[in-house]
This record gives sequence, structure tokens and C-alpha cells, in this order.
Amino acid sequence: MATLRVNLQERSYEIVNRPGALGQCGALAAQVLRGRLACVVSDSRVAPLYADTVLESLRGAGLEPFLLTVSAGEQSKCPAQLAQLWEQMAAHGMTRSDTVFALGGGVVGDLAGFAAATMLRGVDLVQLPTTLLAQVDSSVGGKVAVDLRAGKNLAGCFYQPKLVVMDPETLNTLPDRVFADGMAEVVKYGCIWDEALFARLEALPDRAAVTAVVEEITTACCDIKRQVVEQDEHDLGLRMLLNFGHTMGHVYEKAYRYETYTHGEAVAAGMVDAARLGELLGHTPSGTAERIAALVRRHGLPAAIHAGRADVEAALRLDKKNLEGALHFVFLERLGRARTERVARETILAHWRDGAWT
Ligand code: NAD
Ligand code: GLY
Repeated sequence: MATLRVNLQERSYEIVNRPGALGQCGALAAQVLRGRLACVVSDSRVAPLYADTVLESLRGAGLEPFLLTVSAGEQSKCPAQLAQLWEQMAAHGMTRSDTVFALGGGVVGDLAGFAAATMLRGVDLVQLPTTLLAQVDSSVGGKVAVDLRAGKNLAGCFYQPKLVVMDPETLNTLPDRVFADGMAEVVKYGCIWDEALFARLEALPDRAAVTAVVEEITTACCDIKRQVVEQDEHDLGLRMLLNFGHTMGHVYEKAYRYETYTHGEAVAAGMVDAARLGELLGHTPSGTAERIAALVRRHGLPAAIHAGRADVEAALRLDKKNLEGALHFVFLERLGRARTERVARETILAHWRDGAWT
């Protein structure tokens, strides 16, 4: 059993990670919550699998749960769905001492989290992440948001949960592609923070091998995220390291209109790109990109994605980290250690020729 504590003064909370934890979420939550009503938000794929376990556990702890289900998929992370959740919560008579439980992947976590942050100017939030990505990244650290037509995550805030409860057994029902998506973020932690984690992942040949030790892996990742968030809760410096691989990753997601590649697939190729560019600019030891490429391939992710120069140019111009033609780019000083550097967009483009780095 693993329990971590995220230390953020009065916003501190625990992350509980163990098999069977979902069935104990009521008893765990009862230790930190105040109110009686428990609004469980889930999606149409996760609810049939896990909502009963959660509702039963909440009832067993003396809470009065009700379930709100949204359609599975990123399209639910939108203002219209958020407004519908507010109305449904109000219709159920939620008060400021009641709690929202986000049961699902990052979509539900971000959407229900933002609903909790804004309902009645803020009600308590418990994250119950059920994807690998949500367990190692989105359920910890307090970023909650919805997408706007103008872009992803454009309306949101920082809102820390009161508790995170993750159950490694929920990962067994993930489709391979969704599991691999989360592996990209796991590999990222190894790259930026923990060379031993990276080497451990290199020794795991496939999903089954990862699954055998997944609780240790997810706990190691949460512990890294904990340290980053404790030092930079509001994303003003250190937390930007979590964007390793995301600059080119976003280029690919945009170039393919968010349809062809998952976020994790785009980030996997983006991490290899960031290492290659780092090698070319002298920030990163040679051979690093090849090791990352081999690792992401082993875990079902692409090490390269093709994009045309016009797409790359356009996406870099729109990058949120773009300031006067230069971007905050995360480079590896070596595996396990990262730093940000400002890089001119032209420098990136000068090394990008027809989908290859030269
Ligand atoms: P997701 O929530 O859409 O889940 C992926 C798919 O898996 C969905 O169809 C879902 O229904 C299904 N699913 C979830 N758990 C399952 C289970 N245990 N068994 C079977 N199916 C299951 O996607 P995601 O990858 O978890 O999250 C992506 C979202 O997270 C994006 O919106 C992204 O912006 C956000 N995100 C947020 C943060 C943050 O810090 N807040 C960080 C990274 C990503
Ligand atoms: N997923 C990036 C962050 O939480 O900052």
C-alpha cells in the first residue's frame, strides 16, 4: 500500500494507491470530508464498470451519493457540459459542505474538478482516477479546466482535491491504446526527473510486465509530480518541466486536427524530437534520443510523426509558450535531469527538414 502526502499548507492532501482502494473510497473520504451529499461524476464507459463499487462504498460510509454521467470523450470537457453539471448539482440540493467525486480519466477529472471549483464558489473534490494518465498526472496537482472552441484547457483554474484515491486494478480494463497513452507520461517522468525509473521501464518488455509492478510505477510518478507541485503549484517555473515533449507534441496534435494521434502518441514523438534538438544544440548528450525512441516504441508509442513545414511553423506560432518569436523549450541535460531554455522559433525550424532533424 502506498500513501503520499502533497504538502501545500491548508490545501494539503493524501494520494492513496492500492489494489481495492476504490471500494474503500467512502471510508477514506469520510476522514477528510464534511457534508452528506456525494456527487459522483463519471463517463459512459467508466460508470458501468466502477460506479456501483464507488456508490456502495460511499453509502457504507454514511454518505448520500448520486451519480451524474457524461458521454465518454474529450468533447464532454466543454462549457455546455459544465453548465449542465452545475444545474444537476443544484437540482440535487448540493450545499457548500458537500463533495464532488471525479470517477474516470483526465476528461472527467478536469471537468468535474472545474465544476467542483466553481459550484457554490467551491465544494470539496475527491479524484478517483481510472486511466494511467489520470493516475500519474491529471488527478494530482490541481489543474482543472474545460476546452473552448479556441483551444484546449482555455477556461480553468487551480483547485486542489481533498483526496486522491487510485486503484491499480482499474487499469486492467483500459484498452491498449489508452494504456499506452499514459505510458508516454510515465516515460516523461523518467526523462525529466528519475533516470532509475527510465532504466526500470527499459527492462519492462510490455504492458503485462508494467502491470505486474504498476502500483510502484504510478506511485513513483505521483511522488515526482508531488515534488514538482509542492515547489511550483501555480506553474511559474519548475512545473514547466512537465511539458517535456509537449511543444512538438502539440504541433502533431494540431497538424492532424486531434484525430489521428492520441496526446500520448504525439508527446512520445515530441520527446524524441526534444532530445534530438537538444543533441543538435549541445544541451543533451548524444544517444539520448535513441534511448527514448527505443523505449517509447517498446511501449506501443511512435518515436516519430511526420508533419509538413507549414504545419510546424503555424503550430509553433500559436504555441502558448511563444513569446516574441521564442519558446520555452524543455531540454534534457541528461536522462533524469531537465531544464527550460528559450529557443527562437527560427532555430527550431532551421533544424527541422521534412520531418527530420538535421
Ligand atoms: P479520458 O478521460 O478521455 O479517458 C480515455 C478513455 O478511457 C475514455 O473513453 C474513458 O471512458 C476510458 N476509460 C477511463 N478509465 C477506464 C477504465 N478504467 N477502463 C476502461 N475504460 C476507461 O482520457 P485521459 O487520457 O485519461 O485524459 C485526457 C484528458 O486529461 C485531456 O482532456 C487532458 O487535457 C487532460 N489532462 C489534464 C491534466 C491536468 O493536470 N489536469 C494533465 C494531463 C492531461
Ligand atoms: N500536466 C501538467 C501539469 O500538471 O502541470
